[in-house]
Parts: sequence; structure tokens; C-alpha cells
Amino acid sequence: MIGFFDSGLGGLTILKEVVKILPEYSYIYLGDNARTPYGSRSQEIIYKFTVEGVEELFRRDAELVVLACNTSSSAALRKIQREFLQKHYSEKRVLGIIIPTAEEIGRFTNTREIGVLATEATVNSLTYQKEINKFFPEIKVYQQACPLLVPIIEAGEIEQKNLDLAIEKYLNQLFSKSRKIDTIILGCTHYAIIEDKIKKYLSLGIKVISQGPIIAEKLRNYLARHPEIENKLSKTGKRIFLTTEDSERVKNLSQIFYGEQIAITIINIGP
Ligand code: DGL
Repeated sequence: MIGFFDSGLGGLTILKEVVKILPEYSYIYLGDNARTPYGSRSQEIIYKFTVEGVEELFRRDAELVVLACNTSSSAALRKIQREFLQKHYSEKRVLGIIIPTAEEIGRFTNTREIGVLATEATVNSLTYQKEINKFFPEIKVYQQACPLLVPIIEAGEIEQKNLDLAIEKYLNQLFSKSRKIDTIILGCTHYAIIEDKIKKYLSLGIKVISQGPIIAEKLRNYLARHPEIENKLSKTGKRIFLTTEDSERVKNLSQIFYGEQIAITIINIGP
């Protein structure tokens, strides 16, 4: 199967786009809702939690896991690829979502100034800056940490006034760094669900980039280039959804994030 991992529900916005263009594969999704948000935690803890999630997906037959979480991609991907996989699962693969986003961003901006909205951990890691500048050294990257957004979204308070106030505050802070920003990356998979709200506070012509469609295309491309992985994948269109939190809220919200009714199973992960 193809595994998808996120600290919570945000990764469903990526999986939703992936299944649109690659419906034949079988997917297993794991959201670590019981321990979300990851974005305000240390790099060591994010690495530990992410490895536990990835191992769980491997145990449940994932051959390839996509970290559908920018926070995990920034804090854990390299170490997982270089150390954890080498040592324990040399046949399996783990992919992140920051590098594929960075690779595509050049075609959206005219001013060559872009903004990134993300969690504190992603912003502090400077991963977006570094990866974008590897592909496009001339692009100026301005980051804004948005620590209030994931807790509000995971609490299901998407229609509440406090979300609007937080969005407005973060966008003002971002644009106070530069008025020439013409493209904004939603660098946290949870934010895709509030894309329309974010757009309401932006001047016309500023592009907002959600990662789902980009990652879907990149995954298709990856599978075409890696027959040794693709050949091992089941093509029976199975869908499995797992969460670490037993709550009605998670069950209800997961439908909103995925865009259709899903059956979500509660599991424990970690030691
Ligand atoms: N969805 C995750 C991301 O893309 C972050 C959520 C969290 O802080 O746990 O960064």
C-alpha cells in the first residue's frame, strides 16, 4: 500500500488530491490526532513521533510512506531516509512534501518574492528557504509561523471568529516583511482547508498555493520513475484510515478534510 502520515487531519487534503489522479492504488492513512499539534514541539520529539507513525504504516503493509505533513518533513525526513531506513527498512521508501513544493514554486511568482505560512517548527527549521533557494537562488522567501491555526482547525472551530482574527494577524505580519510577495505557500497541510478564508484577506492577484495537486503530480512522476517500488504496490483501490484519537470530533472532521464519508479506525502507536 501507499502510506500517508500526518500529525492529524491535514494530510487528508493531500491524499484527497492523490486519489483523484491515482485511484487504482491502495492507500493507508494515519493521523496522530492524539498528539497533534506537532508544530510547537521540539525536533527530537517530532522525529520520534514521526518514526513511530512510519513504523506503524510499514507494519500494516505500506511499501512507501508519504509524510503528508510539513512539520514532519522538515524535522524528520532526512534522518529517516539516512539513518532509520538504512538500518531497519532498506527496501522501503519515505518521501516528504517540502522539496516537491519547492521545486515547483518558481513557475508561480513574477516578483520572485514569496511567503510561506507554516508551523513554528517548519519555520524555525528554515527548510523552505533552503530548498527553494537550491532550485531558485534568486527567490526571496519570507516565512510566517502561525501557531494558532492548527489547534483551532483540529478543534473544529473553522467557522469561529478567532480563526479569522488569527489569519488576519498572520498575514499582516507576513506582508510587513515585504509588500512585493505575490505567491503564498500554505506550508502546513492543515491550511488547505481554510484556503478560501485566507484568500479573503489578500489583494487580487496574489496566488495561494496548496500542496495537494503538486504532491499528487509528483507522486505520479515518482512511481513512473521507480518501477522497483511501483511493481510492489497493490492496485485494488483499497482505502484504510487510522487515527490515534478516539473522538467523535476526529470522525466528523475527517470527512470534511477528505471531502467524503470515511470509516476511520482508532489505533495506538508508539511504545
Ligand atoms: N499538518 C502539519 C504540517 O503540514 C502540521 C500540524 C501540526 O502542527 O501538527 O505541518
